[in-house]
Amino acid sequence: MTVNKVIRVGLIGLGGMADAHRRMISELEQLRLSALCDVNEELLHKVGEEEGIGKEKRFDEMESLIRDPDVDAIISIVPNDLHASVLELCIRHQKPIMAEKPFTLNFKEAEYLSERYEKTPIPCMVGFSYRYIPAFRYAKQLLEENKIGTVRHMEVRYLQSFGAPIFEVPYLWRFNKAVTGTGALGDLGAHMIDSARFLVGEFKSVSALMRTFVSERRDPASGSMHKVEVDDYASFHAELEHDVVGTFVTTRNAIGSGNQHEVTLYGDIGTIHVNCEKPDEVRISLVDGKELQTTNEILEVPPGYKRQQLEDFTALVTGQKQEGIPDFHDGYQNQKVLERIIESAETGQSVNIDE
Ligand SMILES: NC(=O)c1ccc[n+]([C@@H]2O[C@H](COP(=O)([O-])OP(=O)(O)OC[C@H]3O[C@@H](n4cnc5c(N)ncnc54)[C@H](O)[C@@H]3O)[C@@H](O)[C@H]2O)c1
Repeated sequence: MTVNKVIRVGLIGLGGMADAHRRMISELEQLRLSALCDVNEELLHKVGEEEGIGKEKRFDEMESLIRDPDVDAIISIVPNDLHASVLELCIRHQKPIMAEKPFTLNFKEAEYLSERYEKTPIPCMVGFSYRYIPAFRYAKQLLEENKIGTVRHMEVRYLQSFGAPIFEVPYLWRFNKAVTGTGALGDLGAHMIDSARFLVGEFKSVSALMRTFVSERRDPASGSMHKVEVDDYASFHAELEHDVVGTFVTTRNAIGSGNQHEVTLYGDIGTIHVNCEKPDEVRISLVDGKELQTTNEILEVPPGYKRQQLEDFTALVTGQKQEGIPDFHDGYQNQKVLERIIESAETGQSVNIDE
């Protein structure tokens, strides 16, 4: 595809997260929203009217949109049990895709896809959006400049409160194991794993605990209580590349937290802390080598670290893959770590990632 050509995007799944993607598409001149797909017909036509998309480009079935010759690239924001199907169809029809996380429902699906992808690869980005928080990108640069010396350990948290019992959140697809795979782990933990892989490197082993605090939730369709089989909480210790060790906690039961993903990296001469809620600042503590005085500073992220997620997707589709873009391999590796965390939580044993 030529570099300046407008990329006609087909959006699959028009629910909550689609609003963010519609806004991002509207911000980029090179992307044009051209086709829509959702099984919810009312929503499909509502969004179709809002976006000025003709009825002939509103689909209630995804393969027709994916193989439409007027669609150059796909953005997929469907529930987790459909991620593998969308990816498989995009590989089959050789359509570039930006696929939301978690990569797949489980690692078996990721392995199945990997076999197909290796034979006929496509441009593929996975929605690990925290790579696009300026503070996270700047932290990576500071680490590469060895600002805090040898990194020894890290703490990663991703806290939300929406699942706390007091809110009585009904039984949504996010609590249905067959549709979501895991709870807080795949939803939020997948981002924690990606942030660690982005900033530090590959996982070597994990040792995990998972808990379901709210064991049943009211099904809005039937009005009766429905058993919840996925976690509200997951924590794990991990060994990563370069002898870094880490502790990771995610929960949907952290009253006071809205959407709090933060990473602290401890090096021999300093500490770096980033929090997605303060996207333009990095907190850094450094020890002066002569006086052994510690200074604490808040660094404003310099210009040049702001990059919109779909800018990288646009570049990928036009054959200019950017350094650090979360790609198919990142999705696959992420899913493998998720699988090992579940194994560890179930067996009570530490599990090597490549066992
Ligand atoms: N990167 C992030 O930070 C982030 C944030 C939120 C959600 N997500 C991911 O986005 C995905 C969707 O989440 P959401 O909150 O938007 O969910 P949602 O339930 O609000 O929306 C999902 C939409 O998909 C539609 N859908 C279901 N089956 C379909 C099918 N067969 N074909 C076409 N459309 C279908 C539903 O009707 C719904 O409109 C999830 O995988 C989630 O993990 C990522």
